[in-house]
Amino acid sequence: MQYQDFGTTGVQVSEIILGAWQFGVANWTDVEDDMSIKTIHAALDAGINAIDTAVGYGSGHSEEIVGKAVATRRDEVFLASKTGASPDGIRKGIDECLQRMGIDCIDLYQVHYPSPSIPIEDTIGAMAEVRDAGKTKFVGVSNFSLEQMQQAVATTKLDACQPPFNVFWRQIDEDVLPFCIENDIAVIPYSPLAQGLLTGKFRSRADIPDDIRAANKLYAEGIFEQCLDVVEMMETIAEGHGKSLIETAIAWTRQTPGITCPICGARNPGQVEGMLGGVGWKLSDEEYAAISDAGLKISAQLDFSSNMWGYAPK
Ligand SMILES: NC(=O)c1ccc[n+]([C@@H]2O[C@H](COP(=O)([O-])OP(=O)(O)OC[C@H]3O[C@@H](n4cnc5c(N)ncnc54)[C@H](OP(=O)(O)O)[C@@H]3O)[C@@H](O)[C@H]2O)c1
Repeated sequence: MQYQDFGTTGVQVSEIILGAWQFGVANWTDVEDDMSIKTIHAALDAGINAIDTAVGYGSGHSEEIVGKAVATRRDEVFLASKTGASPDGIRKGIDECLQRMGIDCIDLYQVHYPSPSIPIEDTIGAMAEVRDAGKTKFVGVSNFSLEQMQQAVATTKLDACQPPFNVFWRQIDEDVLPFCIENDIAVIPYSPLAQGLLTGKFRSRADIPDDIRAANKLYAEGIFEQCLDVVEMMETIAEGHGKSLIETAIAWTRQTPGITCPICGARNPGQVEGMLGGVGWKLSDEEYAAISDAGLKISAQLDFSSNMWGYAPK
């Protein structure tokens, strides 16, 4: 594993962060707590030193599982969680988060989503209070637009941004990403494997899992077929490097200017193992550009207006 400066925090984080959404059980199928804990241990043993969770992942269940798994290894790991946007919820939520995780202070506390009915300065002001009280070391945001990011940095120092981003979800390319580069904000994108599409295991509509991913706009008729063409193109590039599609998707994400390290979801130790070869090598400039251009063509056809990421509105 290799390590990367986390923005201007002075902390070094592994080039892959383990995502803990799956460990929350809700929204997913066939998730067992014992296996989740084994998965976290496999990631730490492989040198992954950062985990991203949220109260929203199974109403705190994921935070509990992560806390349990790292209880004797707290010093080895950079812990990140996420909260809602309500100021009172943030002030109360941090104590509940720390209690569930069995820790005194979290490394990174992030706003999961902005709320259209709450001014950004109120949300971020409460996050700054929590940090100033010593309950989190750093403050981050997720799913914020450029304008919301601008309002946030006018309120306090932001250390991290967690946007949706992969080969097919490119809504941050022109605004949020350059803003984070200019402002030295660590960018830790979620869903770098396009929620499984960039593992190569969904080859037909019948393969699409009957969980939260069924609403992913990438599986819409007409889009899915184009995605499969990009998957095949990436597999050809991957073969030339003796790499897998997963490793190539991670390498592409990491190679994107401004990206600090991707957050990858895994549900068992074997999936963690499958990600590790995504670091330590590079695509050629031509290969990077070919993947980038093909993904951008698909991204341009997606309607992200209802939300910042790739799901259809409920
Ligand atoms: N801030 C936000 O709003 C937000 C939103 C989404 C995610 N996140 C965070 O980002 C993390 C990652 O995003 P994500 O889970 O949406 O998507 P992802 O990392 O793109 O994909 C994860 C899925 O890919 C499959 N996978 C991973 N490794 C594999 C391997 N080696 N072989 C075969 N399949 C493999 C698994 O699918 P199966 O489950 O089918 O096995 C896994 O559930 C989450 O855990 C969470 O921490 C944040």
